[in-house]
Amino acid sequence: MANVYTALATPNIAFVKYWGKRDGKLNLPNNSSISMTLSEEKLNTTTSVAFSAKLTEDVMFINGERQDIASPAAAEKSKFIQDILSLMKERAGMREHALVVSQNSFPTGSGIASSASGAAALSFLLANALKLDMQQKEISVIARRISGSACRSMYGGLVKWQRGELDDGSDSYAFQIADKDHWPELMDIVAIVDPGKKKVSSSEGHALTMKTSELYEARPRTAERHASAIEDAIKRRDFNEMAYNIMKDSNNMHATMLDTWPPIMYLTDVSREIIYSVHELNTAAGENIAAYTFDAGSNAHIITTEKHEKDVMDMLKGMEAVRNIISARQGDGPRMLGDGDALITPEFLRLKGLEI
Ligand code: PMV
Repeated sequence: MANVYTALATPNIAFVKYWGKRDGKLNLPNNSSISMTLSEEKLNTTTSVAFSAKLTEDVMFINGERQDIASPAAAEKSKFIQDILSLMKERAGMREHALVVSQNSFPTGSGIASSASGAAALSFLLANALKLDMQQKEISVIARRISGSACRSMYGGLVKWQRGELDDGSDSYAFQIADKDHWPELMDIVAIVDPGKKKVSSSEGHALTMKTSELYEARPRTAERHASAIEDAIKRRDFNEMAYNIMKDSNNMHATMLDTWPPIMYLTDVSREIIYSVHELNTAAGENIAAYTFDAGSNAHIITTEKHEKDVMDMLKGMEAVRNIISARQGDGPRMLGDGDALITPEFLRLKGLEI
């Protein structure tokens, strides 16, 4: 059996959102964004790769299901994965085909960024397995091409993805603003209200909002302003100010979604109930002790600090529609795992009828 390499990456939650691309092929954003990389206990993607002359094409499985990446009819995202695979293999002079097996610990397409951790795990894994001498910054550019927000999962702690100016995208990469020890008390309490797949994919959404929303015109400069304020608040560890800008930014992005034609509405009645409850909590505390933020889904991410974890938990536990609560802290970014964690095993190969 061929050598197997395995890596793990985690999702990130955006404090300032990326919505709208100035280049859809390269995934170049209209604005910079900021995020927190999540810790790995509950939310992670593990990905294994092996290269073998016995394979007749590149093969990929996500959550046990074979993906159509090699055929010309493959979905756009799958084509990107194939492009990245081909690009990195070529760079390493690797002629053998790849078997890639990836597994998420959380529901795919539910508003918890599975594409971000998946793309980050794959890019990081390929760079290491193929022994490409690449800087994290360069790997983040590769991950960005598969799924924009993935470039931010290339680092632990608090991360910024700078918009960049160049048309080739080489200056649109992520970097760390602060490692997790700068503000270790930060937490993301994820309230799962709907584990189902989202109705409008983020790739469709980015394009449709840009094309049809009149409100979107103001979005890039508003987001840049939020990004500067949050970067500054992070440096000063000013939770009150950071929380205000996190909530404003989520609301601002979702406003442009609602203004899209036909409208995109990821937020549900339960999401709105959570929004009101966080405002009540903050009003009662006399300052912002928690901030809600929503990606392309109805699940709430509530950013808070250790000190107020119980207040947020108590608030959520009173809500019947909240099906599951997952607490995460800041993670360390992607890392290689040992053989014991490999997803490509003799048992897996037998089950799928593959030989490597
Ligand atoms: O990376 P994509 O194309 O799945 O877009 C993600 C967009 C949001 O999750 C809504 C915001 C963000 O910055 O993560």
